[in-house]
Amino acid sequence: MTSGATPPGGPLPIAVLASGRGSNLAALCDAIDRGEVPARVVLVLSDRADARAVDRARQRGLPYRVLLRREYPSREAYEAAVGDAIEAAGARLVCLAGFMRILGPAFVRRFWGRVMNVHPSLLPAFPGLDAQRQALEYGVRVSGCTVHFVDEGVDSGPIILQAAVPVEPDDTVETLSARILAEEHRLYPEAVRLFAEGRLTIEGRRVRILA
Ligand code: GRF
Repeated sequence: MTSGATPPGGPLPIAVLASGRGSNLAALCDAIDRGEVPARVVLVLSDRADARAVDRARQRGLPYRVLLRREYPSREAYEAAVGDAIEAAGARLVCLAGFMRILGPAFVRRFWGRVMNVHPSLLPAFPGLDAQRQALEYGVRVSGCTVHFVDEGVDSGPIILQAAVPVEPDDTVETLSARILAEEHRLYPEAVRLFAEGRLTIEGRRVRILA
């Protein structure tokens, strides 16, 4: 990855939504700190108070918020609050990084073209939960990861970048997941860099990467 041009108006403000471990959050922050991605994390938002991602945000001194679904009367009200927090923080890109909730149509419309997700398979193969297990059970020889824009479906939005890894004969879910995760940590910052540099356009189902 090369160092990116800083976008007009300074580094791109991004929000990262995470429910769990937060290794992609850390990889993104590390890439930003190395000067490879012209962005800054203005909000880490989690739906779980005990998420490791929240600890990481705290340790790194990043602004974070925990919004619990049970404190809102409906999914729509919850997602409206998530959207309000993102806008209040001034984020212009939302990165889902292990956020274990499907975002509904109102949220997707509100942030269309500005929400990315990383998924641990070569989409459209193996969407949804346990993608690495699905790949192993299917018997594919190659798997990988995908960074895509989020639409109203499950892992179905326009694809930005993909990286492939081999599936080895002795792989377990753990070994395959680790091989894929290393690629996620490289690919997600690269996708954010392309977005921050204004180089991604969505044309129907296809994402064009401008030179
Ligand atoms: C990653 O495997 C990602 O592809 C999936 O959820 C996992 C998140 O891991 N969407 P982490 O919380 O970033 O470590």
